[in-house]
Amino acid sequence: MDGRTAVVTGGTRGVGAGIARALAEAGAHVVVCARRPPQPPLEGIEFAPLDVRDPDQAQDFFTALPRLDILVNNAGGAPYRRLADADARRHARVVELNLLAPLTVTLAAHAHLRRTHGNVIMIGSVSGSRPSPGTAAYGAAKAGLEHLARSMAVEWAPDIRVNTLVVGMVHTESAPLHYGGPDGVAAVSRTVPLGRLATPADVGAATVFLASDAAAYITGAALHVHGGGERPAFLDAATANKTPQGELR
Ligand SMILES: NC(=O)c1ccc[n+]([C@@H]2O[C@H](COP(=O)([O-])OP(=O)(O)OC[C@H]3O[C@@H](n4cnc5c(N)ncnc54)[C@H](OP(=O)(O)O)[C@@H]3O)[C@@H](O)[C@H]2O)c1
Repeated sequence: MDGRTAVVTGGTRGVGAGIARALAEAGAHVVVCARRPPQPPLEGIEFAPLDVRDPDQAQDFFTALPRLDILVNNAGGAPYRRLADADARRHARVVELNLLAPLTVTLAAHAHLRRTHGNVIMIGSVSGSRPSPGTAAYGAAKAGLEHLARSMAVEWAPDIRVNTLVVGMVHTESAPLHYGGPDGVAAVSRTVPLGRLATPADVGAATVFLASDAAAYITGAALHVHGGGERPAFLDAATANKTPQGELR
């Protein structure tokens, strides 16, 4: 990654900070952007203020940037909120952050990426490929994001590669909000085939791979970083194909 510049949106904490660190360790010059600076600052990583939902701010940011090789659209997320518990405008804000903002930012970065034959990585979620009660607008936006990446990959080939990381549950600073305390995290970890949540560094390593020349022939693809995904719930409920102790044969 020496000589390459990477921008990671929402790279100030959580998954994005893991991605920023991994790209910096691989030799890239990394700029993270978010509305507020990282606390504490991330060593060796530049910060620039940006609200990814604002097209003018995004355009100004990339116009001022001397070079761009790798864009990681990571800023995103949603609170747990059932559909009927909020009006449509609040759900639309979730779609704005998780689908429209990556489109806004990527379009603002397009001229740079065409010049450098760069690449884009969308940070998707398993919520985009299974029902997501409590985060329905988020899941729909992430499904759309993956589709957007596939179309961009075709429109912009052969100059720019565009891929999605479909991320499962990650152990970030915010894990207690989603899963509860250590007991909640341990219980949720037991539902993952690999037996643990991902770390931000796991997502960072996959990002470095997709951004690197090792992935030169990979575009329009989705790479699942989910530890094996979700075991089908019906297998536990079914009474067929079990041992007398109730375990699967
Ligand atoms: N955590 C998980 O288990 C998990 C699982 C699957 C996928 N993901 C995906 O991974 C990505 C990061 O998630 P996370 O859990 O690390 O989230 P997080 O800890 O809440 O961090 C979100 C980052 O995005 C920034 N951000 C939020 N709104 C922004 C805006 N309007 N403009 C610019 N920056 C903004 C935040 O900084 P400011 O608030 O200062 O702006 C922060 O840096 C998201 O796309 C999420 O969907 C996460």
